[in-house]
Amino acid sequence: MKFLSTKATCNSHGQDSSYFLGWQEYEKNPYDEVKNPTGIIQMGLAENQLSFDIMESWMKANPDAVSLKRDGESIFRELALFQDYHGLPAFKNALVDFMSEIRENKVSFDVDKLVLTAGSTPANETLMFCLANPGEAFLLPTPYYPGFDRDLKWRTGVEIVPIHCSSSNGFEITQSALEAAYLEANKLNLKVKGVLITNPSNPLGTTTTRDELNLLINFVNEKKIHLISDEIYSGTVFDSPGFTSVLEAVKDKNLEDTDVWSRVHVVYSLSKDLGLPGFRIGAIYSNDEMVVAAATKMSSFGLISSQTQYLLSAMLSDKKFTSNYIVENKKRLQVRHDMLVSGLQNAGIGCLNSNAGLFCWVDMRHLLTSNTFEAEMDLWKKVLYEVKLNISPGASCHCTEPGWFRVCFANMSEETLNLALQRVKAFIVASTADQNRRTTHRRHHSMGHAMGHSRRMSLSKWVFQISAHEHEPER
Ligand SMILES: Cc1ncc(COP(=O)(O)O)c(C=O)c1O
Repeated sequence: MKFLSTKATCNSHGQDSSYFLGWQEYEKNPYDEVKNPTGIIQMGLAENQLSFDIMESWMKANPDAVSLKRDGESIFRELALFQDYHGLPAFKNALVDFMSEIRENKVSFDVDKLVLTAGSTPANETLMFCLANPGEAFLLPTPYYPGFDRDLKWRTGVEIVPIHCSSSNGFEITQSALEAAYLEANKLNLKVKGVLITNPSNPLGTTTTRDELNLLINFVNEKKIHLISDEIYSGTVFDSPGFTSVLEAVKDKNLEDTDVWSRVHVVYSLSKDLGLPGFRIGAIYSNDEMVVAAATKMSSFGLISSQTQYLLSAMLSDKKFTSNYIVENKKRLQVRHDMLVSGLQNAGIGCLNSNAGLFCWVDMRHLLTSNTFEAEMDLWKKVLYEVKLNISPGASCHCTEPGWFRVCFANMSEETLNLALQRVKAFIVASTADQNRRTTHRRHHSMGHAMGHSRRMSLSKWVFQISAHEHEPER
């Protein structure tokens, strides 16, 4: 340890949270329909696997793009040597058009203000490097994406101060919550450099309302700070109200020629909308020339490979493909979302009303043994190890109220989602039966009769009853 840097050995990466621990536990015992049907089902990963077939069909019909050819001629050598970190012009043009299309062409993007990055992760970190010094702060509404502790803070030394949002108004951002966070930062002697939101929100699965956007724009305008909008889920909005980009809201307030315009920055990636986190395709869009120039230089730490840019420039330039993909992908997300919501409802579990994203924000407060984060952790462990579902506890998203969990629905097959819902239902039935038994037991006990069933026994019983064709886990 003493031979390593402080950064490498400190734990400000936040990766020891239950969000990441759940992934590790899943890796040890992953569910597989045939090889491991009693394994853990991964519901803590915001992946979109629902529309791969549309992309696969396109690739089949466009073999040149996949095999690095242009008009039948190989461009392998050209791509192998390509290293301009401004990116392939054809790809940037296609990406900005796609970003506009997702926003129903209400916003247009200038390629010269776009910086390519290897996903949203480096895009967010790069913006931190450009906008804040170590020890300065960004305000983030809670609950927020657990990866931000690593992405925004770890290497940059920037601090996050939470804007506490509450279930009482559906976790909307309010003026008083913003002011309280700003004051809190001042109390901690932290200079506030900006606010960062995710729109649509991870983990809420909701779009930021026009009122919230106006509130945020007024706030950053008045405080002379930055506003970053991570719009990585902008193409996943499957229900009303629709999606409003922060750029559209600024434009509609006629602030394009004011200084606030240059303090608004958008982050985007194809990891969610196209479901391509493995391809590492992201971008920063900024109206500040200095930010664009600095971020472009920094982007050499995480460029998108030229063959990926080539393939995606061809795919995204095909307007027939993009329009069909956007509509069809949303339809499929809606079906999945509805499946999860009604399955949980059937087990007496509610969700925050949501219209976007790859997950639901699930209310399990009634299942806690007490209104504490310890009880939330106990419930999480029970769901992980006994029900065998990896979901993400609200605490890992910095939620201030115990009992909320993020549950993903687009990273598995319909059958697997159905099985997960069966497991939830069985868990609730067993817990209720157990609860009743304990009530009876207490009554009997007070009459001098002891009963022999422990809670643990009754819970493990149903776990092994759930699968129709059980096999022992392979590992
Ligand atoms: C809000 C948000 N930002 C950024 C990321 C990171 O995405 P990428 O794969 O593009 O780095 C995620 C991934 O879950 C996310 O939810």
